[in-house]
Parts: sequence; structure tokens; C-alpha cells
Amino acid sequence: MIPSDVLTPRLREPQPAPGSAITVRPLQPSDKHALLAFFRRLPVNERGRFFPDAMIDPVLVAKWCQHWSSGRSRVVTAWSGDRMIGGGAIDLARQHMHAHVGRIRMAVDPEYRRMGVGQMIMHELLDIAPNLGVEWLDAEVGSHEAAALRFLRRLSFHERGVLPDHGQDMLGGRFDVVLLARHVETHLPPEIGGHG
Ligand SMILES: CC(C)(COP(=O)(O)OP(=O)(O)OC[C@H]1O[C@@H](n2cnc3c(N)ncnc32)[C@H](O)[C@@H]1OP(=O)(O)O)[C@@H](O)C(=O)NCCC(=O)NCCS
Repeated sequence: MIPSDVLTPRLREPQPAPGSAITVRPLQPSDKHALLAFFRRLPVNERGRFFPDAMIDPVLVAKWCQHWSSGRSRVVTAWSGDRMIGGGAIDLARQHMHAHVGRIRMAVDPEYRRMGVGQMIMHELLDIAPNLGVEWLDAEVGSHEAAALRFLRRLSFHERGVLPDHGQDMLGGRFDVVLLARHVETHLPPEIGGHG
């Protein structure tokens, strides 16, 4: 298992389950068992990076599947066959002041890291964002999480500041949080030179 804060070389190309490709698609209500299994494969200290709750509760997971891709979150999932191997979300702000800003959450199955799965998920989220009226995507990462920082920088997120002691680990210890942001291309209608 690769801890997320360790920088590692890219060793392999994505290796989907036999007979299937790695695919990315929105979360669906029928995904609840796969989502729960994915949750359990994540190291405990990383679950909160994607899931809003660090507790394993099948009832809660079923509820997430029903509501996550409506309301204020849009969730996409990556698959190798019937195994969920990653998830990413854009959370929309409640306040009008931040209505054009989305917040990113993401995690990849430790066995599938450094294979481009995170990038596939992020590209899907970047595709969805303009349709949600999002102009900026923000992400928050612990200052010690070297892999996540490199991942986000690689995907054109830029550091906008450090919030001292704003992170909390599972034991209640504090750490600094780096705020990163990326501008999102708005899809312009084709007649004025956009992608449509
Ligand atoms: C951060 C995370 C989502 C990356 O997912 P991933 O599928 O392993 O990332 P990718 O394989 O798509 O990597 C894309 C780029 O990020 C960088 N990168 C990602 N993980 C890295 C690592 N462990 N070491 C070095 N570079 C890394 C590389 O530049 C890589 O590009 P390259 O393969 O062409 O060199 C994953 O490590 C994770 O789930 N971490 C725990 C949760 C977390 O920290 N979430 C916060 C992210 S918003």
C-alpha cells in the first residue's frame, strides 16, 4: 500500500481488471456496496479526504449514493470492472459570495495509485465544473501531504496560502493546511470560439 504523502515513481500503466477498461462515471444509487468496499480499502486517516464522514455505516453510505450527485455535490467514480477504485467530488458553496467556487475532494484506491486514475477523475470534474457555474476550483491539503500537493500542482492548481493549524488528524493533532486553486475554463458557445 502506498501512503499518500510519499512521493513514488510511476511504475505501471493502468491495469484494469481482465476484460475491462478503467472508466469514470457519475456515482449512482446502485453503487452503494462498491462505495462501501472502496471506503474500507482507504487508509483510515485518508477517508475524510473524499468521504464526509470517517465512520463506516452502510446506512449512511446508501444515503450518500442517493444524494451525493444531487444537491450541493457532484461525485464521479473510477472503476476497474466492478471494483470502485477512486472517487472525486465538487462541493458547491452555500453562500452567494462563493457561488462560483467549487471545493474538490478526492481519493484513489491505494492499489491503483500512480497509474493516472486521479488525473482521469480530475479531468472529469474539470469537464463538469463549467456546467455548474463554477469558475474556480479550490482544494485543501495538509502541508505534509507531498503526493497530493504534487498531484494538484501537476494539474495546474496554484498555492494561494497556508492556514496554520487548520488541519486535524485522527488523534486530534494539528497540521498546517495549504489552500490551492485553479481557474476553470468556461465553455463558450461554438460561435464565439469555445468548445460548445
Ligand atoms: C492524491 C491522489 C488522489 C493522486 O491519485 P493518483 O491516481 O495516484 O495520481 P495520478 O497517478 O493520476 O498522478 C498524476 C500526477 O500526480 C503526481 N503524483 C501523484 N501521486 C504521486 C506520488 N505518490 N509521488 C509523486 N508524484 C505523484 C505525478 O506528477 C503524476 O503524474 P505522472 O504520473 O505523469 O508523473 C492519491 O494519492 C490519493 O488518493 N491520496 C489520498 C487522498 C488525498 O490526499 N486526497 C487529496 C487530493 S485533492
